[in-house]
Amino acid sequence: MWFTLEDYLNKINENSKLYYEFNESFLEVSVDILPLDFNKLFKNDNKVLKFEIGFGNGDSLIKLAKQNPDINYFGIDRKMDRIRKTLSKLNQNDKIPNLIISRFGTDYLLEMIPVGIFDEKIMNFPDPWPKAKHHKNRTVNEEFLSVLHKLLKEDGIFRFSSDHEEYSFEVIDLFKNSKLFSNLYQPDKFRSEVSNRIETQFEKHKKREGFTIHHMKYLKV
Ligand SMILES: C[S@@+](CC[C@H](N)C(=O)[O-])C[C@H]1O[C@@H](n2cnc3c(N)ncnc32)[C@H](O)[C@@H]1O
Repeated sequence: MWFTLEDYLNKINENSKLYYEFNESFLEVSVDILPLDFNKLFKNDNKVLKFEIGFGNGDSLIKLAKQNPDINYFGIDRKMDRIRKTLSKLNQNDKIPNLIISRFGTDYLLEMIPVGIFDEKIMNFPDPWPKAKHHKNRTVNEEFLSVLHKLLKEDGIFRFSSDHEEYSFEVIDLFKNSKLFSNLYQPDKFRSEVSNRIETQFEKHKKREGFTIHHMKYLKV
C-alpha cells in the first residue's frame, strides 16, 4: 500500500462515469464523505447493518437484501467488472432501499468506516491465492481480525465460507488462536451445510465440482 487513501479512491473512481450505469444503490466513495454515515446513507429506519466483502456477481447479496427488507446491507467489491455486473442486475430490479454497494477493497476500512457499526460481516469464497508465494495476498490474516473486531458491534458475527481447504484451515487456526472471537459452530471447526443459506455463484460451481464447503461462524467477544 503505497498510496494515500485519497490517491486510492481517486484511482478506483477514475473514469467511473464511463463504466458504471447509474443506480441509486451504488455509492461512489470520496474522502469528503468519510467516515461513511450509514444512518444518512440508508433512507430507512432499519437498525441492523450487515457488511459483505467481495460480493462477486451480486446475485446472493441482492437476494439477501430482498428477502430481508428490515436489514440494511452494505457490500463492497474491489473489481470493476463485478460492480458492473451487479449494477446491471440492480438496474433490472425495482429500487432495493436496504442495499448499498461500493467499489473498494479492505485496505483502508478503519479510515472509511466508523468502529462498532456492523452486526455481521460476511465473506463468501474470498480469493484463495493458492500459490505459497501469493498467500500474503489473502484478505483474512491477523491484522484483518483486529480490524474486523473493531468494526463489529458487541456480539457481532463474522461468517466465512470457502471451498479452499488450506485457506479455510488457515482461517480456522487464526480464529482458534485469537482471543477476539469464539467459534459458534463448536465443537465443529466448520459446517459443510448451513440451513436456509442463499448460495453464491461460486458456491454453486464448487458444489457441482464436488468440493466440500467450509462454513464458519464466529462471535465477537
Ligand atoms: C472468488 S470471488 C467470490 C464472489 C462471491 N462472493 C461468490 O461467492 O460467488 C471473490 C470476490 O471477492 C472480491 N475480493 C477479493 N478480495 C477482496 C477485498 N479484499 N476487498 C473487496 N473485494 C475483494 C473479488 O473481487 C471477487 O469478486
